[in-house]
Amino acid sequence: MRILHLSDTHLERTDAPNRHGVDATGSLRLMLAALRHQRDVDAVVVTGDLANDGAVEAYTVLRELVGEFARTWNAPVLYTTGNHDEREAFAKVLGSGHLDPDGTDRAEATSGSGERAAVSTVGGYRLVTLDSLVPGEVYGRLGAAQLEWLREVLRTPAERGTVLAFHHPPVTLDVPTQRAFGLLNPDDLADAVRDTDVRVILTGHFHLQLFGFLERTPVWVTPGVVNRIDLTARPGTERAVRGASASLVELGGPSGPMFHTFHAPDPRAHEPVYELDDERTREFLDRFGPRG
Ligand SMILES: [Fe+2]
Repeated sequence: MRILHLSDTHLERTDAPNRHGVDATGSLRLMLAALRHQRDVDAVVVTGDLANDGAVEAYTVLRELVGEFARTWNAPVLYTTGNHDEREAFAKVLGSGHLDPDGTDRAEATSGSGERAAVSTVGGYRLVTLDSLVPGEVYGRLGAAQLEWLREVLRTPAERGTVLAFHHPPVTLDVPTQRAFGLLNPDDLADAVRDTDVRVILTGHFHLQLFGFLERTPVWVTPGVVNRIDLTARPGTERAVRGASASLVELGGPSGPMFHTFHAPDPRAHEPVYELDDERTREFLDRFGPRG
């Protein structure tokens, strides 16, 4: 089982550069072009922050670009929401988020209750997308009703196991922004996946690659397509640099799950996109960090 894992495309309503001067659509095109030689791709997964301000136009461009790319392998595409996404616009263009190569919705079940969580099967693997979006917030949370739905889905094991995909990582490094803006309730998720057939959890949001465990379940954080967060910056500050990345996730072999990161050949890669000094990073944390 080979999954191409993309995240954080942050597409704008138009092709114009974003407020940091980055052409998000161009960044996605560059990444997809670099991945064209990949073979035997069974599914493409895109874990959120698809549209920078939740515009229908952005979801439409994304569906066209990624859909066309996935059709070369006849692979389905699975999308999840992120903190920048908007559930209504997402559903209008992407339906449940699980699309067959011809664009038909392939979800076998959805969570209902307005959240965009869904399940479908690919090559004997059950792929479950969850919705960790909390409207208006940067951090994420999986609500009790959605976790109850997940428990119900996981009650019967799938033929080859389950893959969970959603936006906010349930693991973090000791970096203030990651601590504040990851998944707020990883323990509730750990409780729902304990002793189930979940083989791996795929996430995005941090715009860098990171691996860890949620109890015994491997967690992969794929880097972003729109830019990269550079942790060589001085602690307490934040630096984003140019350069799109994506991951290959291979499951089922003797060594799986395995993860590989691809980098788009961008001549301007590593150039700073924005830098927040200590004071502005603190302001950002104060303004958007969890309260109470
Ligand atoms: Fe995000």
